[in-house]
Amino acid sequence: MSTYLGIDVGTSSVKSILVDQSQRIVGSASQTLTVSRKQPLWSEQDAEHWCEATAYTLDALRASEPAALAGVSAIGLSGQMHGATLLDGSDKPLRPAILWNDGRAKDECEQFEAACPRSREISGNLAMPGFTAPKLLWIQNNEPQIFDAIRKVLLPKDYVRLWLSGEYISDLSDASGTLWLDVGARSWSEDLLAATGLGIEHMPTLVEGSQSGGRLRAKLAERWGIKGRPLIAGGAGDNAASACGIGAVSPGKAFISLGTSGVIFVTNDRFSPNTKSAVHAFCHAIPETWHQMGVILSAAACFDWLSGVIGCKVSELFEDLTRSIGQTETPLFLPYLSGERTPHNDMETRGAFFNLDHTTDRTEMTRAVAEGIGFAFRDCTQALADVGTRFDSLIAVGGGARSHAWLQILADTLNKRIDLPKQGESGAAFGAARLAILADGGGDPSDVCTPPPISEVFEPDPTAIEDHLHKWRRYRALYPALKEALAA
Ligand code: XUL
Repeated sequence: MSTYLGIDVGTSSVKSILVDQSQRIVGSASQTLTVSRKQPLWSEQDAEHWCEATAYTLDALRASEPAALAGVSAIGLSGQMHGATLLDGSDKPLRPAILWNDGRAKDECEQFEAACPRSREISGNLAMPGFTAPKLLWIQNNEPQIFDAIRKVLLPKDYVRLWLSGEYISDLSDASGTLWLDVGARSWSEDLLAATGLGIEHMPTLVEGSQSGGRLRAKLAERWGIKGRPLIAGGAGDNAASACGIGAVSPGKAFISLGTSGVIFVTNDRFSPNTKSAVHAFCHAIPETWHQMGVILSAAACFDWLSGVIGCKVSELFEDLTRSIGQTETPLFLPYLSGERTPHNDMETRGAFFNLDHTTDRTEMTRAVAEGIGFAFRDCTQALADVGTRFDSLIAVGGGARSHAWLQILADTLNKRIDLPKQGESGAAFGAARLAILADGGGDPSDVCTPPPISEVFEPDPTAIEDHLHKWRRYRALYPALKEALAA
């Protein structure tokens, strides 16, 4: 019987899962990764570590599930988006890859938009330091010898694909985050590439996420005991892959991701940009489908920070949240610990608490953090509503979904229903495995990418809607009023 492999090249780990034809998980393995922050605003990883970690997970699957691994007929790749992996003529990385959460290229965003005044119209996106193109201008400005030696620029999962298959290929969802893609036309834009001194020859070939893009090298197939040479699906950026995993592939289907960073993702039937509020407008991993995202840079990361300051576990903060249900007199918190993307596009702004008094205690501060992240997400849903995007409910994914109290606070602050899936696999690696099934001729995307069973539903509390709206308006007034004071 055929099996399918999904590999997610994340920021904190590589995760590989093996599913059978009925999408039952038959094995999984992961290996952690570290991020290097050599200077303030910098965030880098060695591209080789992604391949080593991927090899580790597949060696582990070979050891634990040799028969299931032997039957793999297609592989799907997912990965952290935007990372600039710069290769020389012999496919060697010229320097550590610059990641999605690296903020060094602020000035280069202006330089990019000045060099291609139609960039917002073509790419559908505001130039933001996290995206790939401004990073290349930073290299041109600061490391010119490296820039001159660049022969290919790949995204993280596509560097792993190069190692797996020997081919330069990317998919349209991940390519959307480079700022070199004509997102409406689903092809590279020579004008956008020229704005960074690059050409089509520096780019990988593009395929749809659910199309085939190369085959596993015979040598690696042999190493893992895989029969034949499985095909490798185009795959997707981690958010579009998660959407496939959670069943958000048809227009209006949406999810909220509560990871280190936070994402509100909505599927669209057309290219629908809103660059004014830093909404991301990208291709989906499914043909003729697009998606929008509001991205906040610190979501669950705020609880990690607070738990470190207080000296307790995040799970204890989540217990505080449960105890705080019904409490309304909490301070305000701006969650901009590492700057913000949607709606501000400001890597230099920083977080803050407001309205503290002598009685403010740990529980109130924890609740303020939970609400503040909720208000940042509400800014995202407002930016989406501004361009007519409507959705009624969101499926919650990511580690933060462990706290039911936080999910209720999010339902209240967003005034949207939040659905929590039953425990089980639905993340980016699972979505990548589903794209492998589709690339192997597995049928219609909406039949393969179905939503998971829901275990619990969080409805907004009708008695709290007005209070939350009022508080969100106060929250929303703070950034424009205090922009200079908040700057790092
Ligand atoms: C999306 C983004 C993040 C990364 C995280 O634009 O930057 O969600 O993909 O892996």
